[in-house]
Amino acid sequence: MAAALVAPSILAADFGQLAAQVRAVESAGADRIHCDIMDGHFVDNISFGPAVVRAVRQLTSLPLEAHLMIEHADHYLPRFVEAGADWITVHVEPEAKHDVTATLKQIRVSGCRCGLTFNPATPFSAVEPFLNQIDLLLVMTVHPGFGGQAFRPEMMEKVKRASVWKSENNSSLDIEVDGGINADTARTSIENGANVLVAGTSIFHTEDYRKAIRTLRGE
Ligand code: DX5
Ligand code: ZN
Repeated sequence: MAAALVAPSILAADFGQLAAQVRAVESAGADRIHCDIMDGHFVDNISFGPAVVRAVRQLTSLPLEAHLMIEHADHYLPRFVEAGADWITVHVEPEAKHDVTATLKQIRVSGCRCGLTFNPATPFSAVEPFLNQIDLLLVMTVHPGFGGQAFRPEMMEKVKRASVWKSENNSSLDIEVDGGINADTARTSIENGANVLVAGTSIFHTEDYRKAIRTLRGE
């Protein structure tokens, strides 16, 4: 089985110990840090914004992913670029209220890598036209808004389709999964073609981050 990269989602961290927890996952072998940005409109929860991303940037040299679950990402994304995000991922759904092609271009021009994502209820056909404009496709394996939800195995059909597209087009697209990723669902995701795993609960709610990360990678 091909090895995958692991991106711990700090949504599941203890915010009172954020600095220590970010440093701990870095030294435990994390590949990237995943920052879940929620605005209370696009999703039914509010998390944190650019100020926290900036603070995390100062704690680690790992690449930072900003997963923007917000309306009007085009308006807010310069603040995340400025805060030090390396990857910016936006949602394709019309409820995210932005022009997807224009926003992807804006991300690219800013010097960040660009990602696109879609909710479990959104079909693969919604992201397909954009695949040649992005560096990362994030397949949501839970409905966004909260950590700790159960993985939806039926999303593996989307991972498979992305993986077929990737090999047919000889592309280096990252195929990332997000939501309910643990040792079992990580293996399933990798088998279907995912190469980046976001995990909150299955890392931060355990005692041994190194072991959790290695287990996710299938080592
Ligand atoms: C869900 C977020 C996820 C979430 C993953 O809206 O995008 O990144 O934090 O958390 P777990 O791994 O706990 O499902
Ligand atoms: Zn996320």
